[in-house]
Amino acid sequence: MEKLDGKALSQEWRGGLKTRVEQWVAKGGPVPCLAVVLVGDDPASQVYVSHKIKACAQAGIRSIEERLPGSVTQDELLAKVNNLNRDPEVNGILVQLPLPSHIDEAAVVDQIDPLKDADGLCTENLGLLAAGRMRVAPCTPHGVIHLLKKHQIEMAGANAVVVGRSQIVGKPMALLLLQENATVTICHSKTKNLGQHLAQADIVVVAAGRPEFLGAGDFPKNCVIVDVGIHRKDNGKLCGDVRFAEVAETARAVSPVPGGVGPMTIAMLLENTMQLTMLQNPGVTP
Ligand code: GUN
Repeated sequence: MEKLDGKALSQEWRGGLKTRVEQWVAKGGPVPCLAVVLVGDDPASQVYVSHKIKACAQAGIRSIEERLPGSVTQDELLAKVNNLNRDPEVNGILVQLPLPSHIDEAAVVDQIDPLKDADGLCTENLGLLAAGRMRVAPCTPHGVIHLLKKHQIEMAGANAVVVGRSQIVGKPMALLLLQENATVTICHSKTKNLGQHLAQADIVVVAAGRPEFLGAGDFPKNCVIVDVGIHRKDNGKLCGDVRFAEVAETARAVSPVPGGVGPMTIAMLLENTMQLTMLQNPGVTP
């Protein structure tokens, strides 16, 4: 079994990006700046945001962290996003999800200026992706594509099954795999016979959000498995949506949790921030 090592690729990507940022700044480009908005005190979100901020610093990207209480109103949050939209120093904006249940997540994401949408999640950017005219792609699925490419997994013509249809992972994942000429099936909680679809798969991306949901018996032999899930077990250890130890015996390649997709998400966030900074400064030639 080949391990799809997202930690290694993310380090390589971030190293290359650091060089590109330095070259960009040397040519007169502004230091890219990412604003990260964190609402409430969800412990997992706090950890993710701290990783993102640290990664920015290592790549030479400036970051601004905006923390708001979980009691913030929708209007206050929209006003905060608007201020960041108008701030000429800010090139990228990310609102960490999930948001408290009294807030309309889609409305907040769509308030972000599409040219500052570091997550690639607003309607305009998802629409461009669906139209085959990608501007910035959502970070997690884009990281998966780069991980597969790095390991020379052939996507063209492959049967790719995406398990999960979330706006943030499953749907854009399917669009990106289609862009790579895979034959794509999206399965979800209402799918009648998941097993039948998985039996035909060459590549499976699991983003079901259910701890250790799938095991060796669910996948054909020599399948490539990408596990997007991340959960903390009662014993404190992290696990994915897939029972890694089982599939390690029979799969062709598997992404581990942790150290697979997660680090790639961060690398792509930095990449998107750089891409948006360049789009906003067409006069500077990189
Ligand atoms: N929550 C979990 N993953 C993500 C992500 O990629 N972006 C944002 N904004 N929130 C998340």
